[in-house]
Amino acid sequence: MKKIVLVAGARPNFMKVAPILRTIERYSHELCGVLVHTGQHYDRNMSHTFFTSLGIREPDYNLEAGSGSHAAQTAHVMIRFEEVCLKENPDIVLVVGDVNSTIAAGLVAKKLHISLCHVEAGLRSRDRSMPEEINRLATDAITDIFFTTEPEGTANLLGEGHTKDTVHFVGHVMIDNLFYQLERISNDGDRLIDPSVKDLKKRLPEKYFCLTMHRPSNVDNKETLSGLLKAIAETGLKAPIVFPCHPRTRKNIDLFGLSPFLHPAERDGGDSAFITSGIVATEPLGYNDFLYLWKDAAGVLTDSGGMQEETTALKIPCITMRTTTERPITVQIGSNEVVGTRGDRVIALAHKILQGEWKTSRVPDLWDGDASKRIVEVLRR
Ligand code: UD1
Repeated sequence: MKKIVLVAGARPNFMKVAPILRTIERYSHELCGVLVHTGQHYDRNMSHTFFTSLGIREPDYNLEAGSGSHAAQTAHVMIRFEEVCLKENPDIVLVVGDVNSTIAAGLVAKKLHISLCHVEAGLRSRDRSMPEEINRLATDAITDIFFTTEPEGTANLLGEGHTKDTVHFVGHVMIDNLFYQLERISNDGDRLIDPSVKDLKKRLPEKYFCLTMHRPSNVDNKETLSGLLKAIAETGLKAPIVFPCHPRTRKNIDLFGLSPFLHPAERDGGDSAFITSGIVATEPLGYNDFLYLWKDAAGVLTDSGGMQEETTALKIPCITMRTTTERPITVQIGSNEVVGTRGDRVIALAHKILQGEWKTSRVPDLWDGDASKRIVEVLRR
């Protein structure tokens, strides 16, 4: 029996681990999956709601790392994760993505001579001011088996001196999850989707946007955040914008006195009124609740990594408010455009979306819902 410890810590990890764990559990006669939640994200809306809405079972361990400085958070995960590894003595530690929990667990595994697999390896923004870029570079420097989502990821790893036999281009587990959840919503949406979210959608016009924004480079600086919010609010005059607000962003909007930007205009007033324009801020939403909204949006504005890929998979126009992307395929053949943080670019491109003038796009190779099967095939070998 091969024992595999899977590590998830922050919101964007949960949807990547879900399909891999499901696939591993189909081979229970030869593979044993141990699920570790590092507790990097701990708010109900950032963590528990994600686990339940993705249909992930209870984790075997919760390390309760919580927030703190990068050093404190990384160190906390390392200390607690080492205890887990010593107790479980796994054959493989599998980490996903690029968050602090990814590098923390990776370091622990390698120093205990446990094989390390990295899912979503090889992505590079070439912007070393992003904490995620440091996590990607450092994790890949010590990984034994790499799973890549796009050819550029493979090319980056080979260029950094890793050998071909260690790099497996498997497609994207996040897209496995996306297709799986879309099917669940279409079969069982009435039960799965929160009534308040269904109600919100009924109140939106045919053309609306969805927005996510939480990167420190966008939300920790008052000038940048207010510039972006101003441009987004101007876009919101043409079509309403639904904005599930990350705790970091919410805190800074309040701190910088920017909450007046967040009010939607409602026809006739009242809770059931039709929303005609403006920014509709909500608490962070569960995965399926948000998917239920953005899958039918005219476009998505974001600074997230995952949203660039998920919108590409559904060919929904995506405006990425960052200066770089580590996921170039979403721009080269997908529906994504990287616009930087200039408000006028955001406004101009949102206008293009509303005019129906967006570029045509294609879904990247192997983003077909079967990436976790390919990964588990390699793990079995
Ligand atoms: C982390 C990841 C980022 C990912 C994002 C998704 C790193 C370096 N960054 O950023 O790549 O895109 O998650 O959401 O790992 N907070 C809460 N409740 C929570 C979690 C966070 O209130 O459940 C607040 C805390 O004030 C915390 C801040 O948000 O200090 C930042 O959380 P943290 O996990 O450090 O980083 P994120 O910005 O969420």
